[in-house]
Amino acid sequence: MSDPAIAVATQQILMAAQHPEQQPVVKTFFDEKTFTASHVVHDPQTLIAAVIDSVLDYDPASGRIKYDSAQKIVDYVRAEKLQVAWQLETHAHADHLSAAPWLQEQLGGKLGIGANIVEVQKVFGKIFNADTRFARDGSQFDHLFVDGEQFKLGNLNAIALHVPGHTPADMAFIIGDAAFIGDTLFMPDYGTARADFPGGDARMLYRSIRRLLSLPAETRLFLCHDYKAPHRDTYAWETTVGAERAHNVHVHEGVSEDDFVNMRTSRDATLALPNLIMPSVQVNIRGGHMPEPEDNGTSYIKIPINKL
Ligand SMILES: [Fe+2]
Repeated sequence: MSDPAIAVATQQILMAAQHPEQQPVVKTFFDEKTFTASHVVHDPQTLIAAVIDSVLDYDPASGRIKYDSAQKIVDYVRAEKLQVAWQLETHAHADHLSAAPWLQEQLGGKLGIGANIVEVQKVFGKIFNADTRFARDGSQFDHLFVDGEQFKLGNLNAIALHVPGHTPADMAFIIGDAAFIGDTLFMPDYGTARADFPGGDARMLYRSIRRLLSLPAETRLFLCHDYKAPHRDTYAWETTVGAERAHNVHVHEGVSEDDFVNMRTSRDATLALPNLIMPSVQVNIRGGHMPEPEDNGTSYIKIPINKL
C-alpha cells in the first residue's frame, strides 16, 4: 500500500473509533527495573486481547531469569477471562528481555513484530558472531507485520505502521482509538527515544514521529517506557497526539527536522548504553528465546569486546 492509502486507512480506523464499541480497554504493567510499560489491550465485546512488549525478569549478575512480571499479566488475563490472540513486540528491545515465548505457553497468541526485524537480525547476528543456527529471516516469529497492514483484534479494527528510527524495525500498532507507539515518542515532558543503536537514524525517527503526530489529536498514545521527567515523580505512559504536538520537549509543532536531528544526535552522544543491551538484543532478536544451547545443553549470553 502507498503512503497516502495507508494514511486514509488509518484515518478511517480512527474515525470509526469515535464509537465507544471501537475503543479497547488497556491495562498497563510497569516494570520499574527497566522502566518498561507492557500493555494488555482487549476488545470489551469479544474479550480478545493482545499483549504488547512484555518483560522477562533477568538478573545480569547471576544470569538467572524469573517470570514474576510476566505472571502478573497471566493473572490479569485469567481474572478478566481474556483470550490472547497476539503477543506483539513494537521492536527488538535493547533494555529488557521479552517474555513473549513464556507468555505464549501460558496464554497462547501469535508472536508478531515488524518485518524489518530481519535487518536487525543481520546487524546483530554479525556483531555477536552468531552461527548458522541463528536464522536471519524472522522465522522465530509467527507473523511479520508490514507497513499499513490491517488486522482485527476481536471486533476492533487495527493497523500496523512502520515507524523506524530508534531501530530499523519499529512498528506502531493502532487498535481502535489507541496507538501503541513503542520507542518513538515518550511523554511530552520527557521527549523522544534515542536513535544511536546500530541501524538507528535520527532523521528517520523524526519522519516517523511526524507521521504519528499527523493522527487525530484525540488519538490515545501508549508508550513503551517512562523515566519520569524533572519535576514529575510518578510514572506515566499514556498521552495523546494533541498533547505531544503541543508540548513534546523535543519535537513539538514547529521543531524542524534539522533541529531535531542536531538535538537528538548530540544528546545520544552523551548517553550510556542500557545496562541490559547485551542480553536483551541476543534474546529479543530470537523472538525472546535464549541463544541456542552449547553442547553441554546450556545457553550463554556473549559480550563482544569493543564492538558496541
Ligand atoms: Fe527500545
